[in-house]
Amino acid sequence: MRRPLVAGNWKMHGSREGSRALVGAILEGLGPGAGAEVAVCPPFVYLADVQEALGGGPVALGAQDLCPVPGEGAHTGEVSGRMLAEFGCRYVIVGHSERRSLYGEDDATVARKFLAAREAGLRPILCVGERLEEREAGVTEQVVARQLDAVLQCEDGLEGLREAVIAYEPVWAIGTGRTATPGQAQEVHAFIRARVGERDPGLAEGLRILYGGSVKPENAAELFAQPDVDGGLIGGASLRADSFLAICRAAG
Ligand code: 13P
Repeated sequence: MRRPLVAGNWKMHGSREGSRALVGAILEGLGPGAGAEVAVCPPFVYLADVQEALGGGPVALGAQDLCPVPGEGAHTGEVSGRMLAEFGCRYVIVGHSERRSLYGEDDATVARKFLAAREAGLRPILCVGERLEEREAGVTEQVVARQLDAVLQCEDGLEGLREAVIAYEPVWAIGTGRTATPGQAQEVHAFIRARVGERDPGLAEGLRILYGGSVKPENAAELFAQPDVDGGLIGGASLRADSFLAICRAAG
C-alpha cells in the first residue's frame, strides 16, 4: 500500500516568525498517529527556522528547488542539494510549473535537478502538468509523457523514481480556484503510473503520485479517494494551519 503524502508548497510567502507559528500550529493540530505523511516546503531562507520548529517530529521538511549542479561551486545565487540535506530536508520540489514558465526551466534542466536531488540523498517531488491551451488541444498526455520521459531517459532516471514522488499539477488549476475534477485527475494519474509501469511495473505500483492545483478542504477528500491519487501538493491552502490540517486529515 502507498502511504499518502500531503506536502505544503509555501512558494514565496511568509516571514521568519510566521513560518515558525505555522509549523507550531500544524504540529499541534496533527497530533500523534496521523495516517498520511505530511511535509512542508518553505522558502530557502526559512529552512533553518522551520527545521528547528519541526524538532525532528512527524512532519518532514522539503525545499522548493535546487541547483542542477551537485556539491558546491561558482554558481551565484544557487543552493545545492547537499546544502538542503544539511538542513534536514527529505524532499525537494523539481520542475514546478512556475519554475518552468517564469524562470525558463526546460525538461532537460528539470531532469538534471532530479538527478542532483538523488545524488544528495533527497527525494525529488517531480512536477508535471499541461497548460490550458494544451488541455484544450487534447495533448495533455503527450505533454505529461514528454516531461516524464525527460527523467526516465536519463541513466539512473528510472532508478531515481524509486525514491521520488510525482506531482501532477495542471497549470490551469494552480492558484486559479479551478480544480481538476476527480475524474480528470485520476485519468492523468493512471496514465503516469502506466507509463512508468511499462518500464517497471513494481516500481509503478509503489510510486506516489500527488495531485496539485487548488486543493482545498472542500475538494480534497474526493480527489484523494481516486485510486491513483496518493495525496496532494498544496499551495495557497497550506499557508493556514486550519485548511492544511483539514487536507491532511482528508488524506488519511
Ligand atoms: P494552489 O494550491 O495554490 O493552487 O497551488 C498548487 C501548487 O502549485 C502547489 O505546488
